[in-house]
Amino acid sequence: MNPADDRPPVLVLISGNGSNLQALIDAADNGEPFRVCGVISNRPGVRGLQRASAAGIPSLVLDHTGFPDRASFDAALADAIEGFAPRLVVLAGFMRILTDDFVNRFAGRMLNIHPSLLPEFQGLHTHRRALQQGVSEHGASVHFVTAELDGGPVIAQARLAVEADDTESTLAARVLQREHQLLPLVVAWFATGRLQLRGNRVWFDNAPLQAPLQC
Ligand code: GRF
Repeated sequence: MNPADDRPPVLVLISGNGSNLQALIDAADNGEPFRVCGVISNRPGVRGLQRASAAGIPSLVLDHTGFPDRASFDAALADAIEGFAPRLVVLAGFMRILTDDFVNRFAGRMLNIHPSLLPEFQGLHTHRRALQQGVSEHGASVHFVTAELDGGPVIAQARLAVEADDTESTLAARVLQREHQLLPLVVAWFATGRLQLRGNRVWFDNAPLQAPLQC
C-alpha cells in the first residue's frame, strides 16, 4: 500500500471466487474514495486470495473448520478484523452465519451483498428460487448486517428483468455483473460519510431512507 493513501480502509471477508472483492479493488485503483486494506477468507486456497495477492493486499485465512464452535471462530475473526483497523467491513460472498455478539460488535460498519431483491429470497440458491417462482424482476441488494440473516436494513438494490429463456446460470451471471457496480458505489457512499445506520434505519445524506435506493 502507498503510505500516503489516507482513504478509509475497507476490509473484505470472502469464502470463494472474490469477484466482488475484485470489483472493490478495481474501483479503489480507479480512484474511488476508499482503499482495500485487507482480505480474510474462511476457506484456504480460494481464488479471492489470489486476487488479493495479485493486488498486493494483505490477506489472512481463518479456517472455520479448525474451531470447535461458532463462538470461538467468531471471536478469532473479530480479533483478526480489528488487527486491520478497518473503517468498514464488507462481506462479499462470505458464506458463514455470524453470531449476534460478532454482528453487534461491528454494528453500523459492516455491509453484506446478497444476490436477490431483499426481503425476497433470503438465504441460498436465490436465482433458482426466483426462476421457480416465476418472478419478473430479480437482482441484488446491499444491506447493513444485523443479527437477522440477510435481514438487515437494505441500502441499495440493482434490479433487472428476468428473461423468458433465463437459466439459473444466465441469471446469476447478469446479477453478478450488476453486483460489481452496486457494491463499490455503496462502499464509496459509506466512505464519504453519506451513509449511516441509526438504530435500525439507514440514513443517506442526513435523512432516513424511505425505501432502498435503486441503482
Ligand atoms: C455473490 O453473488 C454475492 O452476492 C453472494 O455470493 C456471491 C459471491 O461472488 N453473497 P464472488 O465471490 O464475489 O465472486
